[in-house]
Amino acid sequence: MQAHTRRRFLASSFAFPLASHAQQSDSRIEVLLNEPIGTIAPEIYSHFVEHLGGVVYDGIWVGENSKIANVGGLRKALVDALKKTKPSVIRWPGGCFADQYDWRDGIGPRGKRPKRTNFWVDSREWPANANRTGAQVYDPNHFGTPEFARFCQLTNSQPYFAANLRSLPAQEFWRWVEYCNSPNGSTTLAQQRAADGLAQPLNVRYWGVGNESWGCGGNFSPEDYAIEFKRYSAWVPSYGVNLAMVGSGPNGGELEWTKKFFAKAAERGGLGKMWGWGLHHYSWNASAGRTRDWYQGKRDALRFDAEQYYEILKECLMMEGLILRHWDAMGAVDKSHRIKLVVDEWGSWYAPGTEPFAEALIGQQNTLRDAVLAGLTLDTFNRHADKVGMANIAQLVNCLQSLFLAHEDKFCVTPTYHVFDLYSAHQQGQSLRVVSTAPEVRYDRNGSPATLTGLSSSASLKNKQLTVTVTNPSLDQTRETEIAINGGSAKQCTATVLAASDAHAHNTFANPDAVKPRAASVTLRGGSIVHRFPPASVTKLVIDLA
Ligand code: AHR
Repeated sequence: MQAHTRRRFLASSFAFPLASHAQQSDSRIEVLLNEPIGTIAPEIYSHFVEHLGGVVYDGIWVGENSKIANVGGLRKALVDALKKTKPSVIRWPGGCFADQYDWRDGIGPRGKRPKRTNFWVDSREWPANANRTGAQVYDPNHFGTPEFARFCQLTNSQPYFAANLRSLPAQEFWRWVEYCNSPNGSTTLAQQRAADGLAQPLNVRYWGVGNESWGCGGNFSPEDYAIEFKRYSAWVPSYGVNLAMVGSGPNGGELEWTKKFFAKAAERGGLGKMWGWGLHHYSWNASAGRTRDWYQGKRDALRFDAEQYYEILKECLMMEGLILRHWDAMGAVDKSHRIKLVVDEWGSWYAPGTEPFAEALIGQQNTLRDAVLAGLTLDTFNRHADKVGMANIAQLVNCLQSLFLAHEDKFCVTPTYHVFDLYSAHQQGQSLRVVSTAPEVRYDRNGSPATLTGLSSSASLKNKQLTVTVTNPSLDQTRETEIAINGGSAKQCTATVLAASDAHAHNTFANPDAVKPRAASVTLRGGSIVHRFPPASVTKLVIDLA
């Protein structure tokens, strides 16, 4: 389909102007100052970078000799924009790629590094016109541990390495730790690190022990994986770093994986090294129950109707139940709840067709719908700050629910980027209980009535400043809402809103600011706030308490 025909099709068949049918304060959010939940870990605002399609090559790594503005080969525009959102942690190098990756290929002089076949070579989602001979398929290893470490240093974030448990021996795991963390000059690998430009230890704290070990990470049973976890995590030298090992947790709702792993790993103290338990959950099935098939259930990122819009949001709202159920299952063994949940892959996953360029496998466009999805999900994590120790949206650039799209000299941020920018204010705040009441969203689900939460919110307090974020998922209802502060009152409030006239609105290389936040006015009424939240919007309120 030619570009102009496609645009007309989008406009005629799927546009829903977000008309506002205002209600008279039909909704209420109560923030309970005296009910703290826990500190919101900055790590909830973390990212994921895999050697997959256009994430690393072209997305982040352009090379030192590139005409594209770069810092030591790293795309400068991306480094600068990411840093602004206070990225806490970046997970790398996968994903499924991690269990095929030999970290030794990515150190030493770049020109001498080996070229290897990428894990994703046989994916059935490659666009037909993709050139399958380049770095996205045959990885030149120009982006390895030293380059990733510099990317983290430049963006003020911490690295989180996912170690290869399926195809490298346990010895290679601790040697990678040795390369990263052993003192300057102390070991042959520390000398290699210095030769790679990083004399000082990297002090890497977060280490994933495999990835999706129930699937691409080895098709293990939970019991077998528990034994492997112990073998890989035991007696890894710490070099004075409080190492935080993350176990490869369940695929969404698979409670048996959590229960059986914990029971087995706990034998002979095998959970002692575990800091976090991974959980992966993607919002992908927009078929409204017509299929559960992984390929058939996905729909387009840009062309969607109201049913598909709500179905994707419904999928993301499953996150709360997943957190609660896995947390309970973990607590049956880890009674003091020392081990936190690490949602190290989450986001939307659509059908192929909107890749920013052909080699960007599983790349997709990102609309206001995705911003709403991000708002709903981050609010969920904030409300469970006592349970969620880290969360990593998938993936940073050119893949799944990205914050950025980049190709050659073209670059733009997505609506999801703006949500991360707005929500960064929550980092390290004290999460407070919020009680939201709003009419439910009603929609037609394959001929039957269905509902969705009316408003989502979360709140955090730092000193005497309250940050409240509110997401209105409705496509056609403005929610006039009273925000009451139980235990205090508002002295002053500013609002920033991310909204548009159509939920399909998105940024492109040609029109990079189609969706961007704007300031909005709020009404203070007797210590409370009254605000009108537009349809399909994400809003941040910053409130100074009296
Ligand atoms: O993020 C894409 C893939 O999704 C990851 O490689 C894998 O862990 C998951 O299945």
